[in-house]
Amino acid sequence: MADPLILFMPSGKRGRFPEGTTVLEAARQLGVYVESVCGGRGICGRCQVEVQEGQFAKHGITSAQEHLSPFGAKEQRYAEKRELKPGRRLSCSATIQGDLVIDIPQDVQINAQIIRKAADTRVFERKPAVQLCYVEVDEPDMHKPLGDLDRLKEALERDWGFSNILVDQYLYPQVQAILRKGKWAVTAAIHKDEETAQASMIALWPGLHNEAWGIACDIGSTTIAMHLVSLLSGHVVASAGTSNPQIRFGEDLMSRVSYVMMNPDGREAMTRAVREAVDDLIGKVCEESGANRNDILDAVFVGNPIMHHLFLGIDPTELGGAPFALAVSGAVHTWADDLGLGANKGCRVYVIPCIAGHVGADAAAAALSEGPHRQDEMMLLVDVGTNAEIVLGNSERVVAASSPTGPAFEGAEISGGQRAAPGAIERVRIDPETLEPRFKVIGCDLWSNESGFAEAVSKTGVTGICGSGIIEIVAEMYLSGIISEDGVIDGALAAKSPRIVSSGRTFSYVLNDGDPRITVTQNDVRAIQLAKAALYAGIKLLMDKLGIDHVDAIRFAGAFGSFIDPKYAMVLGLIPDCDLSKVSAVGNAAGTGARMALVNRDYRREIENTVRRIEKIETALEPDFQSHFVAAMALPNKADPFPELAK
Ligand code: FES
Repeated sequence: MADPLILFMPSGKRGRFPEGTTVLEAARQLGVYVESVCGGRGICGRCQVEVQEGQFAKHGITSAQEHLSPFGAKEQRYAEKRELKPGRRLSCSATIQGDLVIDIPQDVQINAQIIRKAADTRVFERKPAVQLCYVEVDEPDMHKPLGDLDRLKEALERDWGFSNILVDQYLYPQVQAILRKGKWAVTAAIHKDEETAQASMIALWPGLHNEAWGIACDIGSTTIAMHLVSLLSGHVVASAGTSNPQIRFGEDLMSRVSYVMMNPDGREAMTRAVREAVDDLIGKVCEESGANRNDILDAVFVGNPIMHHLFLGIDPTELGGAPFALAVSGAVHTWADDLGLGANKGCRVYVIPCIAGHVGADAAAAALSEGPHRQDEMMLLVDVGTNAEIVLGNSERVVAASSPTGPAFEGAEISGGQRAAPGAIERVRIDPETLEPRFKVIGCDLWSNESGFAEAVSKTGVTGICGSGIIEIVAEMYLSGIISEDGVIDGALAAKSPRIVSSGRTFSYVLNDGDPRITVTQNDVRAIQLAKAALYAGIKLLMDKLGIDHVDAIRFAGAFGSFIDPKYAMVLGLIPDCDLSKVSAVGNAAGTGARMALVNRDYRREIENTVRRIEKIETALEPDFQSHFVAAMALPNKADPFPELAK
């Protein structure tokens, strides 16, 4: 008779194993990650699995519990001391007696941590780079003069299979005291380097230690966002964000590079500022979750190339001009301690590789999250900032570029423009008959023409227009005929509506005639046209490279993308024609990619391999950029059709 079949959910991995095999062993053989800190001694409880009832084989099963061995002594002891929910078993102890469906629960949280929702709630299969390993070490023996540390290494090899373990230097003076404090039972944190297969002991605690945290951090030029993640469950337990303090050295990336070039200690000052901000965020997420900094053992960072370099203490001057040479493009492995971050002394840092001099580790992480390289459909991934990062491709080919969109989409260079903040206009509609506008501001649910609006915004007032509002107002001006295809405000409409006013040789549209008076000038429309044409031309170059004239799906990454309405983006010709139901915002995809690389080291290999095969296009050097740019100055575009808009 065939051996029993075991099916693991949600991965769907399955295999046949002889009766008596532990569920943990079956999981290991099938490559299903089940946490185990105590090495199967039945004391950590991390290896819990849920036994499902149901049918999965033709002959069916009635109760999966019947197909597992009854509670053994280890499991009984654990269940008496700590709670083991109904249906749960310790996989290190329960053995297979028949066909089984096993679920790996995502909530094995011994200390009942509050599970915080990350913006992206996907839970990724775990295979962290750092693992906790509990061992019982032989006591010293005069007849066997093997050092305490050497016997600890022996135990780690015997129980966990790690050979030739390296030991972080700072641990040498501590090993003897920790072993004695733990009465020869200790928990070691082992970092496994996938490429070299080298295991390193990076931390050590007396007795059973059941906490291991990691941080995933996206260093943006405006905002730094961080997740604190349990390495034992993969859950995000706290998230926090802060402004990048480098803003005081320069609003945008190029002004920060200039600051470094013009000030002898400029690089040091900006490196210090960003590291301090990251360290403060670590404090915040620890405070929020009750986690101890000393239990942070791994960290993954992403950022655009200039943020990446400044965080690592590298002079970004070379990135300020052609050929935009990165000091390092591959993944960086270092120590949190070397970066001045308060975490466990042995905490490792992994920085995701950069794609090119203008397409950074943040774009690589976003690609890891959205996975254009994993699917058949042609996906366009766009992160709009002062420099838009664009990735386009599918499982066969992926290309990437950046496009100099400038700061208009962020509200700069626009007369009434501002950053997204309470009081900023974020939604706009214009009546095509009367040309009267109505709008919504951040922090208020009412439209400006609804009763109670003035009261509702009395605290902040109406302060300006943010990026998503600017996209909408220009698109609505086009849809209501106020501006032509060429972006010219039609002065003849001044006779029809008091909203159209003369501003010297051109005309403006009055969006808010209260205090402050907010107008959209001809120059504002031009600034948006220039920004959107630069973005579109960059996308078009990538489409040319792949020989395609249509994309199947579009993902907007980043804060700007989260608030932009896809329909208006297409009305303006910011993005190419695409089925609108396939255009979506994915929020901080870079942060999600960082989280993936933190909880599963296979994702590190995946993105390293993907980045190596991404073809980089330097938009400034492509002869067709100019013609694509000129065609894209029109609304939505002079050369390309937008059939989806007509639907
Ligand atoms: Fe620790 Fe099963 S591995 S209780």
